[in-house]
Formats: sequence, C-alpha cells, structure tokens
Amino acid sequence: MSAHEQGYFTEENSADVVVSRIAPSTDPRLAEVITAITRHLHAAVKEIEPTQEEWLEAIMFLTKTGHTSDDWRQEFILLSDILGVSMLVDAINNRKPSGASESTVLGPFHVPDVPELPMGANICLDGKGHPMLIKGRIFGTGGEPIAGAKIDVWQTNDDGFYDVQQKGIQPDFNLRGVFRTGEDGSYFFWGAKPRFYPIPDDGPVGQLLGKLGRHPYRPAHLHYILEAEGFETLITHIFDPDDEYIHSDAVFGVKESLLAKFDLIEDPARIADEGAKGPFYEVVHDFVLAPAS
Ligand code: BEZ
Ligand code: FE
Repeated sequence: MSAHEQGYFTEENSADVVVSRIAPSTDPRLAEVITAITRHLHAAVKEIEPTQEEWLEAIMFLTKTGHTSDDWRQEFILLSDILGVSMLVDAINNRKPSGASESTVLGPFHVPDVPELPMGANICLDGKGHPMLIKGRIFGTGGEPIAGAKIDVWQTNDDGFYDVQQKGIQPDFNLRGVFRTGEDGSYFFWGAKPRFYPIPDDGPVGQLLGKLGRHPYRPAHLHYILEAEGFETLITHIFDPDDEYIHSDAVFGVKESLLAKFDLIEDPARIADEGAKGPFYEVVHDFVLAPAS
C-alpha cells in the first residue's frame, strides 16, 4: 500500500479511499475539483441510498442526455440550466461592482458574426408580432457615456422560436443584430415584443422537468452581449416584468435589476414622430458596464 492510500474500501471510508488515490503530482486544481466532487457525490449517495435499479436509471438518464447532444444541441448545458448550476457559475464569475448592470445566462441560441446594422434598423425580418422600439444609453460606472460600444442582441419571434430553431422557416438573422452606440452612448433599434417560450423540452431534460411538475417556460426577454474597450463584457437579458412566467423562469435567469418596462405607445403624435405604422411598444433601458479588471 503506498503512503497516500487509506486501505480497503468500506461504506464508511469510501470517499477518503478514492481521494487518497490521487497522486501528489496531480495538477492541484484538478485534484481540488475531483476531491470536492467525490466527497459531495459519496455524501449524496449515502443520503439517497439508491437501489441498483435507481442507480441504473440515473446512468441511463445521463446516457440519453449525451445522446441528445450534438453540434447544435447541448442537453448537458440544459440540465445545468434547469438545476440552477449555470446561473450559480454565472453569479460566481460576474460579481459586479456597485452600480454595474447584472449578468445572466448566455443560453444556446447566440450566433457569432452577425452583421452590424445602422442605428435604428429593424431586426424583425418576418414582420410578425407587435413592433417594439428599444432604446437607451450605455454608461461606465462613473456615469460616463460609452461611445462605440458593441451591442449584440437576439430574441425569439412572435411564435416563440429563434431563427436558428426554424432554419428555412424564418429569414436568416431574423431578430438578431449588432449595433454600435453613438457618441453619447445611445442606441436604438426596432424589434418585436418578445413572448415567453419553452426551452427545448423534447429530450431527457424536458422529461425530467415534467416528472418534477415543472414547466419549461422562460419569461419574455431580449438577449444582449455588450462589449467596449476598457470594460468587462456583459452577457445579460432584459425581461418583461408582466410576463406570466416572470417568477418561475425554467432556468432561474431573472434578476430584479433586469426587469425593463414595456410601454404601449398609442399617442398619434409619437407614432408619427417615430415613423411607425400604428401603436408600438417602447422599451427604454440603460446599461452600466464595469471597468475591465
Ligand atoms: C435562452 O434564453 O435562449 C435559453 C437559455 C437557457 C436555456 C435555453 C434557452
Ligand atoms: Fe432566450
């Protein structure tokens, strides 16, 4: 028996024996991670006392989760999302200074290299839903406007799907775009009022949600990635506070500070001023970026 081993495996010493096999030369971070996971996993198994059948069911669930994942779909991330682990990792890695806008999950539907559009462009290419004007300013924590900040935005269409979920049905790049703030940190563009939608729930994670009596819906939101030189990149959303799922987001992404106001504008003078064809929703929302560390 080598010096770091703890003897034969028993129910009592199980985690100690496994952890003691980690060689002293192991990368320290890997050793720390595997030690913590082993200890928590053994503690959970001791608490649950699974039957062999239950253990096999858990293995089969994870196997199906793997088989459901491919280049386009990541069922393990979805599992992490619905267990709140994605939001916990996000919180740990995005402790913002006071006054800075908060982050939330990226989600699986971001598309890199979306074309940059002129300020004021309409990203709703399928013409569905209620027109919505989105505008605001981007500041640093000192209150200084950030000029030339990159705003990468994406949202579902009025049927509750992202363009990449309906290739050939929605126009490419429907409801996504990249904009740059002006000299005073301002931005504005047109989209469509978002609505709640289900996370992909036709796989093992959806089945698990069903067994737990949980719904798969995310409240209506717009996704943002905000980037500017000298500032931390912010991955976030803004949410419709009146959405019926605002208090029960399937992936726990809602934060008080991310609630925006969606105002219905019916005043004929405003409609004419904005060059709209009729009533529209307006969302005015500012963001504050933390300085790069
Ligand atoms: C989304 O908001 O796009 C999303 C986030 C987590 C899981 C599924 C979808
Ligand atoms: Fe989303």
